[in-house]
Amino acid sequence: MTIQKVGVVGCGLMGSGIAQVSAQAGFATVVREVSKELLERGLGSIRKFLQGGVDKGKLAPADMEKTLANLRGTTELADLAACDLVIEAVTENIGLKRELLTTLDSVCGPEAIFASNTSSLSITEMSTFVKSPGRVIGLHFFNPVPLMKLVEVVGTVRSDPRALAAAKEWCTAIGKTVVSCGDSTGFVVNRLLVPYMLDAVRAYEQGLASRDDIDNAMKLGCGYPMGPLLLTDYVGLDTTCSIADIMFAEFKEPRFAAPPLLKRMVLAGLHGRKSGKGFYDWSTNPPS
Ligand code: CAA
Repeated sequence: MTIQKVGVVGCGLMGSGIAQVSAQAGFATVVREVSKELLERGLGSIRKFLQGGVDKGKLAPADMEKTLANLRGTTELADLAACDLVIEAVTENIGLKRELLTTLDSVCGPEAIFASNTSSLSITEMSTFVKSPGRVIGLHFFNPVPLMKLVEVVGTVRSDPRALAAAKEWCTAIGKTVVSCGDSTGFVVNRLLVPYMLDAVRAYEQGLASRDDIDNAMKLGCGYPMGPLLLTDYVGLDTTCSIADIMFAEFKEPRFAAPPLLKRMVLAGLHGRKSGKGFYDWSTNPPS
């Protein structure tokens, strides 16, 4: 199993970042979106990030051109037929992932590896959607993908060790550090991070301290790059709530239960950065 050509399904926040780092590392990369409009939006965000790198002096203009030359957008899953590794970063909906993996199973070659970037759904369940469950693994990236160094490589009890080894080699080749873990909801990072974010919301809800004091406490007291409420906005309140719900359903532990304030804010459409408002107002830079 040698990875030369990479497919990414979904060109949203995570998919566009994954496609970018793959192409930037020199891999021929095909990224698929459901519509031309969404594809253009995703490719636009990649161009914007690369241009930002050029403007900051972090990326040579020629490397930006090379990256874009390695990247191809499509709306057809059939264009992923020759890929050695296909990473799905579509909406966190198991039905959608079932449909996608079933199609990929019939489109791609028998040796192709299928990876999911899911934060909380079961890789084992996804492996049952294809004829050879050994080819399914988890590759969990972090937001913003081009800047965050970690990938959690998740193996199920059925994952083919050759698929895991090839995926780890590819992650290293794209400049990431790998942490290996088993298929347990939330893997390592979200098992620890999600209760922390939920506790920050609970502390704020209970009036322990102001939003800014909670965030400053963790930034300045622990050296975290962002406070937990800003981070919740950054990840998305809806995403955080949905991960918490899945983790609570799995572990039945109160620390994974979404606090009422978080649920209400999600219902009200205050989803954080993506919706323009959450704990912070994102119409200003920096958010206020
Ligand atoms: N191209 C190249 N480099 C760039 C760049 C670009 N377009 N934009 C920024 N950079 C570089 C900067 O030059 C800077 O580099 P140096 O450190 O060498 O100076 C670095 O990236 C940081 O950029 P900024 O200074 O602009 O921004 P910052 O210092 O405010 O950091 C951040 C931004 C990286 C997002 C930081 O705040 C951070 O790490 N936050 C925490 C993010 C986090 O925890 N993410 C995980 C969320 S959980 C998740 O994703 C998984 C899940 O399942 C929920």
